Amino acid sequence: MGFIGFGKVSKNLVEMIKSEEIMFVTSAENRSSETVENIRKSDVRILDTFKDVAIQSDILISANSPKNALNIAREYGKYAKGIYLDLNNISPDTAHEINEHADNLVDGAIIGKIDSPNPTLLISGENADDLLFLSDFIKTVKISDRIGDASILKMLRSTYTKTLSALLIESHEIAKIHNLEEEFFDVLSLTEGKDFREKSLSRINNTLKSSKRKSEELEEIISYFNENELIMVKAALKKLNQ
Ligand SMILES: NC(=O)c1ccc[n+]([C@@H]2O[C@H](COP(=O)([O-])OP(=O)(O)OC[C@H]3O[C@@H](n4cnc5c(N)ncnc54)[C@H](OP(=O)(O)O)[C@@H]3O)[C@@H](O)[C@H]2O)c1
Repeated sequence: MGFIGFGKVSKNLVEMIKSEEIMFVTSAENRSSETVENIRKSDVRILDTFKDVAIQSDILISANSPKNALNIAREYGKYAKGIYLDLNNISPDTAHEINEHADNLVDGAIIGKIDSPNPTLLISGENADDLLFLSDFIKTVKISDRIGDASILKMLRSTYTKTLSALLIESHEIAKIHNLEEEFFDVLSLTEGKDFREKSLSRINNTLKSSKRKSEELEEIISYFNENELIMVKAALKKLNQ
């Protein structure tokens, strides 16, 4: 199993996938000191180049950044004769473009942070069945045989959670103005569950902390689903931009 990119995702996958039968490889070619340190601390063999990694891997994992994912597929996809699993947060359109450069692409989407207690890996594509063995190490769900479906689902999840966060911020602001913040959470917890307050506050804080990135993600969603009306998502974007 080879990695192009050795940050949080790759490091955690190596820790999760504990099997005598799987050997991990990556390269430190042109990488930062932080990545070199991640590689050094992990149980992974270092090859000279990413081209070597692509050639030698039965499963090549691209986990670098949404911006680089397509270029990496252009550069190394042709050397990957096994499965090419893309785990970057890319749009379904980019997944289709990557499919032009990698023979056996599996579209992958990690739901939740990779270092959260129970991340789930969604996979789609005709070769997805070959990766179902990963369930032994990380919850893995095959969505369909179509490239792009895993990415669409991840995007739909963001559509819901990010729009909901904007609504939460707005309601919470009003509750505070009326001096009813505690009661607001108590009343919603009656129907939404005991951990509603904690989850909502964490969602509100995360959204406010990275509102620029969240706005950009909402813009991407609006652009991808441009044939749909998306009244709520556009309102959420307006709210986040304030
Ligand atoms: N973290 C999560 O929980 C999570 C969840 C879902 C999806 N994802 C997606 O998974 C991907 C990886 O996330 P991450 O959290 O692991 O990111 P990260 O911690 O920032 O690590 C990115 C890694 O990719 C390397 N890299 C960047 N450009 C490269 C290139 N051109 N060639 C080779 N290596 C390159 C970086 O090396 P340098 O340090 O040298 O730049 C670094 O080792 C992202 O696309 C992200 O959207 C992450």
